[in-house]
This record gives sequence, C-alpha cells and structure tokens, in this order.
Amino acid sequence: MEINNISIWNSTISNEEKILKEKFSEIGNLPKHIAIIMDGNGRWAINRNLDRSYGHKEGIESIKKIVKAASNIGINYLTLYAFSIENWNRPKEEVDILMNLLVIHLNKELDQLHRNNVKITTIGNFSSLPATAQEILNESIEMTKHNNGLNLTFALSYSGRWDIIQAVKKIANEIKLETLEINDIDVDIFSQYLTTRNLPDPDLLIRTSGEMRISNYLLWEIAYSEMYITDTFWPDFNRNELYKAIESFNSRERRFGKISEQL
Ligand code: FPP
Repeated sequence: MEINNISIWNSTISNEEKILKEKFSEIGNLPKHIAIIMDGNGRWAINRNLDRSYGHKEGIESIKKIVKAASNIGINYLTLYAFSIENWNRPKEEVDILMNLLVIHLNKELDQLHRNNVKITTIGNFSSLPATAQEILNESIEMTKHNNGLNLTFALSYSGRWDIIQAVKKIANEIKLETLEINDIDVDIFSQYLTTRNLPDPDLLIRTSGEMRISNYLLWEIAYSEMYITDTFWPDFNRNELYKAIESFNSRERRFGKISEQL
C-alpha cells in the first residue's frame, strides 16, 4: 500500500487514525479506489426545516472531512459524484448554488489540497460547466498534476451512459479513419476511450441516504465493485462512517466470477 508521505494532514493524524491505519495495512486489504454517490443533502436540510442549499453547504463540509480522512489512511483514488448530467434539470437556482459552491470552495481549499499532495482531476462533460467552474478546475488540475498523494476526482456534468456514448462515437470515428480495427476492440481498449481512462475501476462504491440505486454513475467501471449503502445522509457522513465502509469492504470475499477455492 502506497502511503502519502508528504501530506501535512498525515503528520497530524490522530491516534485513533494511526491505530486504524495500522489495522488496515496489516489486513492489507484497503480499497485502492473508493467512489461515492453523495446523496441526501436536500433531505438533511428539509428535516431541519432549512432550505435545500444548507444541505449542499454541509455536504461540502463532509467532502472536506472525507478527502482528509481518505488521504490520511492511504486511499489512492477517491471519486465523488458531485453533479450528474441529470442534475442540470433541477431548478436553475439550485444548479447555480451548486456551481457557486464548487467555485468558492475549490478556490478556498486549492492551496491546502496542493500542500497535502492531492492530485485533482475531473470526469464528465467538462465543456458544459460554467466558465468560472472550468477556470478554477483547470487551475486546480494544472497546479496539482505532479502530486502523487490522493487522486481526487470530481464527477461533474457526468453520467455513465454519456461517457459510454462519447467513447463509442470516438471509436466509430477511428474505425472510419481506419486507425482502429473492429477486432481489436476489447475491455481494455474500450476503457481507454472513457473519461475515466486514468482511473482504476472502483473497489468500493459507497452510497449515502439509503437509496438502492446506481443513478447513472460509473456504469462500466463498477462491474466488480463492492457496494456499501448507508442510511446516513451525506452531510452527516464523517470519517467514522468511512472507516465502517472500509471495514465492511475488508470482510468481503471478492471472487470476480471464480469460486472461493480458486482464490
Ligand atoms: C445529492 O443530494 C447531492 C448532490 C446534488 C451532489 C453532491 C453535492 C454536494 C456535496 C454539494 C457540493 C456541490 C458540488 C458541485 C461540489 P440531493 O440534493 O440529491 O439530496 P436529496 O436526495 O435528499 O434531495
């Protein structure tokens, strides 16, 4: 397991986290890539008689906690479903609030993320994001591109079907140009045309707020991911919840279609 060595967060790690980190590395079964469907911001706010935007604001605080905890325990990849293509259909005010939160908080946190060796990337239809979001994302990607700690990916204007279709279009075009042979297409080649091409498949997919669905997330990539669904709303999801999910992952037997005796 590769541990992020030059993270400041890592040097201020709590005793509780130290014990967990040792335990997880002894078991040797830490998920390399965790993908999260962060759901329940709206319900969290409505349960408190607050506007949905308060849920999104608290949701940002959860993102900060989980990025730090994932970095501290040595997770290599964390991919967060921040905004789906279908989310563009929400009321304009809510879309604007979400995009503004992204811009404001990335601006605010970028230096700290960089100092903690976090590498920021995105997946999705980047060009459909507002110019202000594209600017800060480009700056973040550029500034952190040589970092080798946690790889933090924001799925923005993303949907699994969209990604598969844009990959198919690129492949069809290459076949037309005769730069690719139909018979050469296999799982590895196809994966290279997805916006997730630089990410390993998720080992663990977490969904908050108890909904039992995938919501168009990483459809191709989660073929063999372990799923963990918690009733906790995203604004209440904290590092202990993350550790619980990892402990559950540790107890699973991943057979990838084989039988136990073959593993
Ligand atoms: C789901 O809650 C949450 C999202 C729309 C995505 C996650 C967004 C954040 C954590 C806020 C920060 C935003 C960005 C773009 C970084 P919901 O509104 O679907 O909750 P509900 O199902 O209870 O209505």
